[in-house]
Amino acid sequence: MCGIVGYIGSKNVLPILLDGLKKLEYRGYDSAGVSFVSNNSLQTVKAAGKIVALEKKLKDFADEQSSLGIGHTRWATHGAPTENNAHPHVSADGKIAVVHNGIIENYASLKAKLQQNGVEFKSDTDTEVVAHLISHFYQGDLKSAVIQAIGKLEGAFGFGIICKDEPDVLIGARRGSPLVFGIGDNGEYYLASDVAAIVNHTHKIVYLDDNDIVVAHHGGYEILNLQSQTVQRDVQKIDFDEDAVAKCGFDHYMLKEIFEQPEALRNTMRGRLNIADGNAKLAGLEANIRELRDINRIIITACGTSYYAGMVGEYVIEDLAGVPVEVEYASEFRYRNPIIKPGTLVLAISQSGETADTLAAMKEAHQKGATVLGICNGIGSSIARNSDGGVYLHAGPEIGVASTKAFSGQVLVLTMIALLLGRQRRVSFEHGMEIANAITEIPELVEETLKLNSAIRTIAEKYKDAKNFLYLGRHYNYPVAMEGALKLKEISYIHAEGYPAAEMKHGPIALIDENMPVVVIAPKDALFDKIISNIREIKARGGKVIAVTTQDCSPLDEFADDLIRVPTTLPMLMPILTCVPLQLLAYHVATLRGNNVDQPRNLAKSVTVE
Ligand code: F6R
Repeated sequence: MCGIVGYIGSKNVLPILLDGLKKLEYRGYDSAGVSFVSNNSLQTVKAAGKIVALEKKLKDFADEQSSLGIGHTRWATHGAPTENNAHPHVSADGKIAVVHNGIIENYASLKAKLQQNGVEFKSDTDTEVVAHLISHFYQGDLKSAVIQAIGKLEGAFGFGIICKDEPDVLIGARRGSPLVFGIGDNGEYYLASDVAAIVNHTHKIVYLDDNDIVVAHHGGYEILNLQSQTVQRDVQKIDFDEDAVAKCGFDHYMLKEIFEQPEALRNTMRGRLNIADGNAKLAGLEANIRELRDINRIIITACGTSYYAGMVGEYVIEDLAGVPVEVEYASEFRYRNPIIKPGTLVLAISQSGETADTLAAMKEAHQKGATVLGICNGIGSSIARNSDGGVYLHAGPEIGVASTKAFSGQVLVLTMIALLLGRQRRVSFEHGMEIANAITEIPELVEETLKLNSAIRTIAEKYKDAKNFLYLGRHYNYPVAMEGALKLKEISYIHAEGYPAAEMKHGPIALIDENMPVVVIAPKDALFDKIISNIREIKARGGKVIAVTTQDCSPLDEFADDLIRVPTTLPMLMPILTCVPLQLLAYHVATLRGNNVDQPRNLAKSVTVE
């Protein structure tokens, strides 16, 4: 989704803005632009398409010296991805430039009023309204004009704002869209929608709250609320490994992140298993531990891949703790009237911690009195800060748009939560120990699974031109089938559907012919014989079967066209292993088709609008 970067300081701003924008590319965008103040004039340069197009245009400004500027990558919501609609947007008098993430919901009525006052609009965006509105209130004090303008806005925003007449002022403001403020050395300050954009300049970060307005000058800053009162916000020292946002020799972030899973999972479980007690020890839930004993129902809410991880969580929590669980798309939950009674716990899952629908679902759950726990990867993210407790994945930044290491980490966290809830209820000490021990072995088993990479590439070569794929799984691996299909769709643009294997005969079986590859997740478990029957049904109709199975499943040799054998673990932990070949299969099919897997078309990494 859109990205913001801003700078004020003693250095030349253009390289800082360009570098920041490149770091934000992973979020997904279709145009980019910058504004900077130089020699008492406001310069704005924009380009449709990728940042290289902007970079090319900026070559003409190589001699400009400016120490104040804002930049933006735009993911189109209102208006096509053209240069005209790209940010920054500038007021009619050419003085004020604005970059914006989010959506201004009342922009149409504001626009109509401004047009009545004679303002001419140049773009189709909601953001342009903001530049004109600030200009409308501007009487020589940018801070005051911004506060007045924000008072008129409905919707979500993260802003970066500069003014030609105030070359010593950089303003940022947020409501509902993430924005961080970075404090550099020697009176330098940064704005960004995501720490990744500025982490190579500073590790001192302020996570702005809703309705915070940060005003930075050369050498000082203040944070204000909408009443112009100063508010105090903690400066956090972030522990950020710069390798974490580099490709480190891999062709793509996605592949790097797939291969990082063993280490990421070690980090997720570090210090969180108490083998001697056969239990999980989750510091972020300590304050809720008594309440967890009394809950009688759980609603898991999330979007996309996080939703599928939630589905695995449903099965594991019900199995271990015997607490009924429902999994609901956050976008649905927020707009219906969910039943929340005393004893209902809501678990919100999000890699980024910034997904607008999930945040809104949490708000709805809070409104109805539920305790809301978060499972997030994004440290200090909005979801983490708006939850009543929770568990971080500690998987490190996920840059590839297609989520990979977050999925396995989320499943692991959910399994540890299930173990904790189970030990409070019906899981015996021995069973708890067995699960805790099995969890500790998982990173090594994922390492084993990753050795299948080149064999999976060979399979991908065979099927890369297919038009459709079906993914089937049962029980714990049904959500993995859904996730595998989503991965393939996102980056290869091949239509794919995930189904519970036995549902195939209720409809999708009609699609099967010799052109339909079917990925069947068939580990040796209690339902193995059932899934063999499903495979026979596919083969009888000429379908091609790619079976993801375990190392002890000889009957499959007979039926499957391609076999991917992963190691064995407890059935409830199998999704962490079976998801890996599906990630690799999607990756290889997509790269063999020549697609940019890190920035697939139309997609954004963190979906901060509805
Ligand atoms: C899939 C993917 C998306 C996200 C979804 C939720 O690969 O990346 O489906 O899973 O947008 O995002 P988070 O987890 O950040 O809330």
